[in-house]
Amino acid sequence: MKRFILLAIATVFFFLQFHINPANALELTEKTRTVALDSTRTTTVITPQQIANGQRLFVQECAQCHLQGKTKTNNDVSLGLDDLAGAEPARDSVLALVDYLQHPTSYDGEDDYSELHVNTSRPDLFPELRNFTEDDLYDLAGYVLVAPKLDPYWGDSLHF
Ligand code: HEC
Repeated sequence: MKRFILLAIATVFFFLQFHINPANALELTEKTRTVALDSTRTTTVITPQQIANGQRLFVQECAQCHLQGKTKTNNDVSLGLDDLAGAEPARDSVLALVDYLQHPTSYDGEDDYSELHVNTSRPDLFPELRNFTEDDLYDLAGYVLVAPKLDPYWGDSLHF
């Protein structure tokens, strides 16, 4: 019984660290929260609440493959800003990331990955995103773009 309790406590702490750790989102400056909205490089400011929601969703649905912005199984296609910028079409803006989460494509833009990568257009294949709203996708995209600036959580590990 005692071991069980200890295990339960350890489990709770394990999950808590994800939540406590990075986005002390409220303390992020406006500059840190300013990211590209679309390919015209119009910028937008992501609110602390959006970052917190985006981070929560990222931990839930993306971190198992994209921990610290890396991409398990194909780290040439990481979530680092350089890699996002090099995709076709470029994915280093909020709306381009939202589009990826609706209609993912290969890095060169040639192949439809709707059956391969989680997205909202195929809830039959990816029920985990079934309840995601447009706002959720926006917040998630905002988080992915702000995260590289959050040192040390995501930080420089992306600029390889
Ligand atoms: C089962 C593992 C897995 C999960 C879960 C996953 N991804 Fe991916 N993701 C990948 C792989 C693998 C690639 C690279 C695909 C390729 O070869 O083009 C990728 C590519 C991407 C890209 C393109 C990156 C670039 O540089 O162009 C984005 C953006 C992305 N994922 C975002 C997300 C988000 C946001 C989530 C959570 C909703 C998520 N992924 C969940 C495995 C995953």
